[in-house]
Amino acid sequence: MSRYVLPASIFGTVFGCAVLLKNHVTGGSCPSKARIPGKTVVITGANTGIGKETARELARRGGRIIMGCRDMGKCEEAAREIRGSTLNPHVYARHVDLASIKSVRRFAEEINREEDRVDILINNAGVMRCPPGKTEDGFDMQLGVNYLGHFLLTNLLLDKLRDSAPSRVINLSSLAHAVGEIDLEDLNWDRKKFNTKKAYCQSKLAVVLFTRELARRLEGTGVTVSALHPGVVATDLGRHTGMHQSHFSSTVLSPVFYLLTKSPELGAQPGVYLSVAEELVGVSGRYYDVMTEKDPAPQALDQETPIKLWDISASLVGLETTVSPPEKTFRRAPPSSPSL
Ligand SMILES: NC(=O)c1ccc[n+]([C@@H]2O[C@H](COP(=O)([O-])OP(=O)(O)OC[C@H]3O[C@@H](n4cnc5c(N)ncnc54)[C@H](OP(=O)(O)O)[C@@H]3O)[C@@H](O)[C@H]2O)c1
Repeated sequence: MSRYVLPASIFGTVFGCAVLLKNHVTGGSCPSKARIPGKTVVITGANTGIGKETARELARRGGRIIMGCRDMGKCEEAAREIRGSTLNPHVYARHVDLASIKSVRRFAEEINREEDRVDILINNAGVMRCPPGKTEDGFDMQLGVNYLGHFLLTNLLLDKLRDSAPSRVINLSSLAHAVGEIDLEDLNWDRKKFNTKKAYCQSKLAVVLFTRELARRLEGTGVTVSALHPGVVATDLGRHTGMHQSHFSSTVLSPVFYLLTKSPELGAQPGVYLSVAEELVGVSGRYYDVMTEKDPAPQALDQETPIKLWDISASLVGLETTVSPPEKTFRRAPPSSPSL
């Protein structure tokens, strides 16, 4: 027997186990096999990463998919590829720049005019730890894209979502919300020194607070809302971090990252689960870590902040009317509630 056979088989076994373990630890596949023919899905940031794979999987399950992206070249190409790989012709590319109120309004108007229904809205587009910068309307870039743009989009699509009930809104948050702090006096970093890491965490905390408040306001309408941390996924999200820019980390450390992160296909599974799982009908206002419901961080459970954040956000994006909370649920949930 060659002296290389034993080490090679040990290496193969260890590598195989690591891959299997990784899939297990990172959450695996959506357990529901539900198909969604006749349902319309709107998903932002769908040209790459988690968004693209979520769009692909929901197309495979028979949905009509509206992909909202800021770069139409990339969006058309991704839509074409998804149509080819799923043999679902109903996958469409549409333009939306979450960093522009005008663009979000135009996108929502297009959907409201052209689509009969919206069954699933996935607020997925995101930027992380980008250099200091403002959106077209002067919002901090991370708050603007990750939260305010989606806040506006969701509000503008609410009539469609309500008319299509039971319908679902899935908001991509992050575990990073746990170290986030909301500064209601200076959400956009106009007055204090900019910190890109804190700005990302604040934006993802805002997404969880928004999820809670929207769920409360939509109680009894059949529209449910979830916030999601999809796991640690190997995508382009870290393009602005030192990790992606350093030659050392992108070469020497990449095998370690490979074992610690999951593929975009697996990273899409939690969003697919929240979109289709039969057991989640009527379940709203919860936070999911991959496919497990968890309590979010304590600052995401505060009772007053979501209401204040809602009002400030509505005024920032120029929403004249927003959905009102039902009278009976206006106050806090019982302390034992496991939901958000
Ligand atoms: N990857 C992870 O480990 C991880 C962990 C926790 C949470 N998340 C969340 O998951 C979501 C998807 O992230 P990902 O990992 O798939 O990242 P990604 O590969 O970088 O994809 C982000 C998507 O958002 C789009 N986008 C960025 N700015 C936009 C804007 N102004 N208007 C419209 N679209 C815009 C990007 O478009 P371009 O291609 O044109 O830039 C891209 O399609 C994000 O909300 C992220 O915060 C990811």
